[in-house]
Amino acid sequence: MNLLAEFIKSSTMYRLMQEGQNARRFKKLYADKEDVLVPDIFWDYTSGKVLTMEWVEGVKLNEQEAIERQGLKVLDLVNTGIQCSLRQLLEYGYFHADPHPGNLLATPDGKLAFLDFGMMSETPEEARFAIIGHVVHMVNRDYEAMARDYYALDFLSPNVDVSPIVPALRDFFDDALNSTVSELNFKTLVDGLGAVLYQYPFNVPAYYALILRSLTVLEGLALYADPKFKVLAASYPYFAKRLLTDPNPYLRDALIELLFKDGKFRWSRLENLLVQGKKDRDFSAKDALQPVLKLLLGPDGKELRDLVIKETIRVSEAIILGSAIESFNSVPGPMRTFVFNGNASGPFTISAAEQQSLMELRAQVIKIWGLLQSSENFDPNLFQPILQVLQEPEARSIGGRVVGGISQRLAARLLQQVLRAPETTAAA
Ligand SMILES: Nc1ncnc2c1ncn2[C@@H]1O[C@H](COP(=O)(O)OP(=O)(O)O)[C@@H](O)[C@H]1O
Ligand SMILES: [Mg+2]
Repeated sequence: MNLLAEFIKSSTMYRLMQEGQNARRFKKLYADKEDVLVPDIFWDYTSGKVLTMEWVEGVKLNEQEAIERQGLKVLDLVNTGIQCSLRQLLEYGYFHADPHPGNLLATPDGKLAFLDFGMMSETPEEARFAIIGHVVHMVNRDYEAMARDYYALDFLSPNVDVSPIVPALRDFFDDALNSTVSELNFKTLVDGLGAVLYQYPFNVPAYYALILRSLTVLEGLALYADPKFKVLAASYPYFAKRLLTDPNPYLRDALIELLFKDGKFRWSRLENLLVQGKKDRDFSAKDALQPVLKLLLGPDGKELRDLVIKETIRVSEAIILGSAIESFNSVPGPMRTFVFNGNASGPFTISAAEQQSLMELRAQVIKIWGLLQSSENFDPNLFQPILQVLQEPEARSIGGRVVGGISQRLAARLLQQVLRAPETTAAA
């Protein structure tokens, strides 16, 4: 019985019908993007012996000259291929496992056409998130977290101890990476990681080998068109977007790990994520940070909640004092004592070093605000929950620095002004 099923499966008859169905499923998922084309299957003319589909006018992707003669750039098409592949692998999980140049055409209007749906594969749902998390951990050089990812990726069974892998990963990355991860070739990275991992009892799932193959093929095409092309750098906007906007708990935790370190909020990380994420075609500022704010300020976020309150107060200080410091500094030296009532060091009881750090924070926050505001769909009310938390009685005990600092009330007012929300009695 089993043998018969195997026979039917492997017969051409089954394969062609299956390929037609693959094409249809693939088209449904990915061809809504204006730059991807998938031929229609003509079912009325398709049988177990013939697969009939729409003819695609186009040039194979490795025929660089012919493509450029049409005024198109191979790299644009490769980039479309990378963006589409990331969504295949990491979003819907259904992917074309054979994207070599014979199966990819550039159409005269610049679309990337996918052909040949004979070899398809699926990324299990858990692995999709684990892969994104793994990339984040890698960029962050968090080797402990990387090692733990191999459980979620199903590379290791839960009874294998990952601790010996941590130094091996560290050795590889600290040796091989003087530059940032995104500057590396995908293939170099995969080969290097492979060399580390093969020393341990890893079991590489079949889907994973196919993912590597499909990405390596795309990278090969890109490098053929431009030897300096960086696939990882081209992918990072997508990863940044997913991190900023995806409510999946695994990704949310990865984002929190990225943004908070040793009880500090890392503004430069947030800025970098926003700069990168905004480059992704599907970035929506309305959704950015939403999942993380929900968690931090919700009942499960107790641990970091105080930190968020403190940081909000510090930002308010930076904004308010920053403006004051700026106007103080704009007064010519000799006049300062006169203008500021005999206090030549300025109207503040904070050290020069701290003034400096407040000014830096202010500049960074203004930049981040600008990044959000200049995005389509941005709604300042995203930060409304922070205002609510600031106004709760327990926030008062956290407060700001007493001397020269401002309180949570003033911070709440400032935030309120920014959000243009009606004042509530709690803040009054
Ligand atoms: N719908 C189509 N429109 C235009 N050319 C096609 C189409 N389908 C296939 N081809 C051409 O035929 C070649 C082989 O088809 P493909 O489906 O890739 O079969 P194989 O399984 O043999 O690789 C492709 O590389 C492409 O050049
Ligand atoms: Mg083919």
